[in-house]
Amino acid sequence: MTILGIESSCDETAAAVYDGRRILSNVIASQAVHQKFGGIVPELASRAHHKTISGTTEQALTEAGVDLDDIDAIAVTRGPGLMGSLLVGLSFAKGLSLANQKPLIGVNHIDAHMYANFIDYPPRYPFVCLTVSGGHTRLVHVTEPFRQKIMGITRDDAAGEAFDKIGKILGLPYPGGPEIDKRAQKGNQSFQNFPKSMMKKGYEFSFSGLKTNLLYYAQEKGEAFVQEHLDDICASVSHAITEVLIVKLDRAIRETGVETAMLAGGVSANTMLREKAARMAEKTRVDLLIPRMEYCTDNAAMIAITGHMMVESGVLEGGEEPGENEVTGLGIKPFARIE
Ligand code: KG4
Ligand code: ZN
Repeated sequence: MTILGIESSCDETAAAVYDGRRILSNVIASQAVHQKFGGIVPELASRAHHKTISGTTEQALTEAGVDLDDIDAIAVTRGPGLMGSLLVGLSFAKGLSLANQKPLIGVNHIDAHMYANFIDYPPRYPFVCLTVSGGHTRLVHVTEPFRQKIMGITRDDAAGEAFDKIGKILGLPYPGGPEIDKRAQKGNQSFQNFPKSMMKKGYEFSFSGLKTNLLYYAQEKGEAFVQEHLDDICASVSHAITEVLIVKLDRAIRETGVETAMLAGGVSANTMLREKAARMAEKTRVDLLIPRMEYCTDNAAMIAITGHMMVESGVLEGGEEPGENEVTGLGIKPFARIE
């Protein structure tokens, strides 16, 4: 079965084709328009999606060497994400589906980040997965496809959001995550005065204290000091964020007894997180899966493969209800065969 995947939940307009065995194309149009605002402006994101979605999809089909007749179903992100952005992708996919008589599959974006691991690795269960992106921090225990127990989420900022907000405080360009990562590699972790509350027992995450702590620190020390010690501050911040992520992932592995652990989402591109995860996997003797870089950040390949898995595993039958912050108002069931 060949699936066209479409993603528009945040600031990447993306389309990809998956033929059930491999990704035939994976096109991503990133929106540069937000850079000068130091964060995503939702209205501008929707407009940019609107401009590029048709061309991006066409390009994905061309690069895959297929046309719409070869597509068996269209998988589209139904949430969570920015409502206006989601609506662009969903309306486009729905139009395509109606006009071409193709079934439509609504995909959960966070599940898709996680299942991006199965683009390059054969599926295996059970596993625990830590999904860390700009909008989400979620630790889950998955026993079979789409059967998952959420062990912990963030109480406030997501891990990527913490990186980005701290990047802004430090005067780094948006998004702060990759910038902090780059600088962290040149710095020493010499600032360790971070809130202990981050390391609390259990599986919930909290990153807003770290951000506030850093804001006060930067204000107290002044601009010149911060710029002079930027690499060291970045290394320290990266350490603080990645340490808590790894401690909780490690705990989840030990408690569930799984033999496979995964990272997913944009922050799993982080160098320090990858290194720490590799060390942890060696200690706990689990197989560690991390998606290839292009499948870590937002993309449509992950939407296409997840749509394919939804059909294969039968979760579409009966229709699962859309969750919180997912689009419900378009009359789209998770899988609607358009007659
Ligand atoms: O998964 P993603 O593309 O979008 C969401 O679903 O949110 O994740 C984007 C997030 C941003 O917060 C970005 O700063 C972060 O991933 N990110 C990183 C790195 N690359 C991307 N954070 C830390 N280190 C990186 N190398
Ligand atoms: Zn994402």
